[in-house]
Amino acid sequence: VTENPDRPAPRTVRVGLLGCGTVGGALTELVTGRCDDIAARTGVRLTVSRIAVRDARRPRQVQLADAVLTEDPASVVTADDVDVVVEVIGGIEPARTLITTALRSGKPVVSANKELLAHHGAELFELADAHGVDLLFEAAVAGGIPFVRPLRESLAGEDVTRVIGIINGTTNYILTKMTEEGWSYTEALAEAQALGYAEADPTADVGGFDAGAKAAIIAGIAFGVALSAEDVHHEGITEVSADDIATARRLGFQIKLLAVAERFDDNSVAVRVHPTMVPEEHPLASVRDSFNAVFVEGRAVGELMFYGRGAGGGPTASAVLGDVIDASVNLVQGSHASLGVFTPASLRPQSELPSAFYLAVEVADQPGVLATVAGVFGTNGVSIRSMEQVGADGDATARLVFITHAAREADVSATLIKLRSLDVVGSIDSVIRVLGDA
Ligand code: NDP
Ligand code: HSE
Repeated sequence: VTENPDRPAPRTVRVGLLGCGTVGGALTELVTGRCDDIAARTGVRLTVSRIAVRDARRPRQVQLADAVLTEDPASVVTADDVDVVVEVIGGIEPARTLITTALRSGKPVVSANKELLAHHGAELFELADAHGVDLLFEAAVAGGIPFVRPLRESLAGEDVTRVIGIINGTTNYILTKMTEEGWSYTEALAEAQALGYAEADPTADVGGFDAGAKAAIIAGIAFGVALSAEDVHHEGITEVSADDIATARRLGFQIKLLAVAERFDDNSVAVRVHPTMVPEEHPLASVRDSFNAVFVEGRAVGELMFYGRGAGGGPTASAVLGDVIDASVNLVQGSHASLGVFTPASLRPQSELPSAFYLAVEVADQPGVLATVAGVFGTNGVSIRSMEQVGADGDATARLVFITHAAREADVSATLIKLRSLDVVGSIDSVIRVLGDA
């Protein structure tokens, strides 16, 4: 793309970068490589004028001039030669204070920090509005997939009823490698870290916190309600065993860490993250490796699916760069975007939600045991969809594998408590929700 001689010369917008790790490094390379094209297309010439890191002497993949590097991030957000601030440090502090200072100084901010936005988004968006500047965060949800902007703009008038997503690349990568390559959990996690997918503390990924934060942000925009990461029920993948994966495959399912945000007819909402058995024929079952996908259901639009790379430097930097261009063009034009008004969320308790379950129960292999166990499901109002017994002739114990129809989670919990109290029940090894029978 060449610059149009009839258009005014591009306006230079100077970017102050907070953090130059996986995402910040990839962004710096992208800006350097793409700035001429971006200037010709948008009339805005981007340049990275300052970069804050924790340790300026650390070797980096990307070539940086000493003059732009600093270990003092506070100096970046107030610098006269910084027009737009990009926060890719991660975590709550110092990111929260730095963004607050930038917004108060009238500087637009782009952030990839879902943890911060899921906990303190409301206060930061209000501040951005009050100072008439952008706070954009496309990369905070589903990495490189353009999803936040379609949700907040293209679907602004849609009555969204449910969003189901695979929104953590690390856990999807781990589950894929365990399923397809027979890797151990530890091997797969180490590789996800080496590839730059995992958070600084990977507990955030494998414990479901990262997906929970993203789900809170998604639900907020999709339903126009104010909620935070604390409102999301989350379970991680650490309890998912190789045995569960093998049984799921044999029964025609893939185990995925799903985020589910729902709005019910009474306008209550529920947001949860948990390992889920997804039927092979469902589009989400074929989402592999670090790929993410978000499935949206709306009353007028029907079903939509967004798919792409949810983690990694390049894809995430691409989403950040889109926001930087948007914020820069808005800055030059003296405008900014707003998220609008959020109403308080009425949360439906997890215990009241309908879910189908997969349960593996170790029992004594004796006459009448199956009838006793099945009876416990029935008396607690949980209907069984399928059952199989696994166990060789002559074994003293057998493994009963149940899949239930959708039932109130409170009723399933009551079933589990009763089953565990029976002498003929040894252990209940696996309790995993199943998608598709609501
Ligand atoms: P990294 O750990 O790779 O990079 C963090 C950067 O921040 C490093 O350059 C580090 O400096 C710098 N830093 C940390 N603390 C400070 C501080 N107190 N002052 C100045 N600089 C500091 O993280 P990522 O790039 O992976 O992630 C950044 C953000 O992007 C996070 O919010 C993450 O959740 C989000 N994100 C990441 C994705 C990914 O795939 N990696 C995808 C989507 C979002 P130094 O280099 O000296 O250590
Ligand atoms: N750790 C995150 C993941 C990065 O694995 O999805 C993207 O937000």
